[in-house]
Amino acid sequence: MNPVRVALLGCGTVGADVVRLLNEQAADLTARIGAPLQLVGIAVRRPARDRGDLPVDPALFTTDALDLVKRDDVDIVVEVVGGIEPARTWLVEALHRGKSVVTANKALLAEDGPTLHQAAVDGRADLYYEASVAGAIPLLRPLRESLHGDRITRVTGIVNGTTNFILSSMDATGAGFSEALDEATALGYAEADPTADVEGFDAAAKAAILASLAFHTRIRAADVYREGITEVSAADVASAKAMGCTIKLLCLAERSGDAVSVRVHPAMIPRTHPLASVSDAFNAVFVEAEAAGQLMFYGRGAGGAPTASAVLGDIVAVARNRLAGVRAASESAYADLRVRPIGEATTRYHISLDVSDRAGVLAAVAGVFAKHGVSIATVHQSGRGNEAVLVIVTHRAKDAALAATVAELRSLDIVRSVASVLRVEGE
Ligand code: NDP
Ligand code: HSE
Repeated sequence: MNPVRVALLGCGTVGADVVRLLNEQAADLTARIGAPLQLVGIAVRRPARDRGDLPVDPALFTTDALDLVKRDDVDIVVEVVGGIEPARTWLVEALHRGKSVVTANKALLAEDGPTLHQAAVDGRADLYYEASVAGAIPLLRPLRESLHGDRITRVTGIVNGTTNFILSSMDATGAGFSEALDEATALGYAEADPTADVEGFDAAAKAAILASLAFHTRIRAADVYREGITEVSAADVASAKAMGCTIKLLCLAERSGDAVSVRVHPAMIPRTHPLASVSDAFNAVFVEAEAAGQLMFYGRGAGGAPTASAVLGDIVAVARNRLAGVRAASESAYADLRVRPIGEATTRYHISLDVSDRAGVLAAVAGVFAKHGVSIATVHQSGRGNEAVLVIVTHRAKDAALAATVAELRSLDIVRSVASVLRVEGE
């Protein structure tokens, strides 16, 4: 049996576990594929780096990833480096040369997925990227294959483990954001620079990939409305609890008519919602489809071994395709739906205001909501001497109307500050 030859780009957290699994599962993988997998090269930045007891021949390491992907003795290129360039150059080169590509690179797919898909078509090669969203959870294959006979209406997910760990910790202990971030860093969940996670960039990239597959439309990271969790306070978490809710960083992709809206932001969800019980660094994605109804996918969204599991699944799939002389269906973007701006999105809102506690204040505040057509569902006031905290929850309203309401509230003398504005989802 001729081996299927694999080049690995990157041997860090994920790549090292890909090497381990390739080694440990070699016999089973051979049986499942019908030919052995052979690792023929590993591109890294620092070949002399201590890689512990990694079961690999040091002679396989190179710093020249581009040279590796061009080699004639490479059938499959597995990219677990990350970032836009030079990863895009390597993968386009590989695909143009007819080599199948497996990647976990959500940033690149969300930034410039169409270029990779086109290169796959041009080179008649496979492009698989299951590990790019929600780590170990089989999610992209169900979206791009199993649910292709149905019409997906909404995808709601917790797709960032770091922020879910932080928000779960704030919910459990009453800690503030900074304290919970420090804990996440100390336990190794948050990276040294947590910006991509806590500001929602990582979740927005994943939202773009999910929405593209769910709605057969090219959605890029720039199309995704994004807010992170840095402004979520201990008071917000307490207020959510008082309403029977918890706060999660959600990715939401919804179809209505011939348009989609895709957004990532913190939101209150009822504790009875299936996503509310997803705690620590776990991920979960809730898919709603017209015929299938509600589906939930749950598991580990990050970490070396869970992510490597998804990478290995893709390697097996593309290796089998190569041996069978076929390739998977190419990108499905025929629907080409319009992307709604955030102002057109509708949801409920939880607004917390610090106000003066005197006659006419509540009426004036209510008048601003009425002026912008935002209907109030509940109001709760707690006094503090001459001041009060007003917590207002609205009925469903357009984001643009709510934004105009908040802007006008900020201009009122009686409103000392708009302490927080959070969306309420999942009801
Ligand atoms: P790491 O930072 O741990 O590893 C990156 C690897 O890439 C290292 O081996 C590094 O080499 C190598 N590398 C960096 N620059 C170059 C270069 N110019 N040429 C060749 N090799 C290079 O990243 P992760 O393993 O955590 O992540 C890899 C990918 O997987 C990213 O796209 C990430 O978004 C994605 N992902 C990661 C998850 C996770 O839990 N970590 C989960 C899901 C997806 P060296 O070892 O010498 O430093
Ligand atoms: N930083 C990401 C997370 C890794 O926390 O979920 C997985 O993509």
